[in-house]
Amino acid sequence: MLRYMNFVFLVGVFLTAAPLTSNAEELQVYKSPTCGCCVKWISHLEEFGFTTQTHHPGDLDGLKKELGVTSQSASCHTAVSDQGYVFEGHVPAKYVQQFLDNPAENAIGLAVPAMPLGSPGMEMGDRFQPYKVFQLNKDGSLQVYASVEQQADQY
Ligand code: CU
Ligand code: CU
Repeated sequence: MLRYMNFVFLVGVFLTAAPLTSNAEELQVYKSPTCGCCVKWISHLEEFGFTTQTHHPGDLDGLKKELGVTSQSASCHTAVSDQGYVFEGHVPAKYVQQFLDNPAENAIGLAVPAMPLGSPGMEMGDRFQPYKVFQLNKDGSLQVYASVEQQADQY
């Protein structure tokens, strides 16, 4: 009996621990219904291992403001994690994961302002415009989280 209980316990531990080793995180993605690059970014996230749900709010700009996305950090789509962290624009999935694994205390999330050519979801052959991933802070300030110099650095 004791052995059996141990076995049940171990299976329980395995089942609860398993999602932590994969990317169990679900992201709510808010976008306009006509945006194509948003859909491609969503595919990029799902290929990495995130689950997503897409929403088309009536007032996307109002929602961004509410979430703390300033006009200087804004892009096309806005994703929100289970714990309420915000990922604005074409942020590479690996940085989303890196941030969620170790969120800075003063941060609300990450942003790639505007839509850099060649970023995930914005691919056009091998054309690439280097860009920065910014950390969005609670006080509205931005700080550089990562500099993406080459297309290959994003994956
Ligand atoms: Cu876009
Ligand atoms: Cu988008």
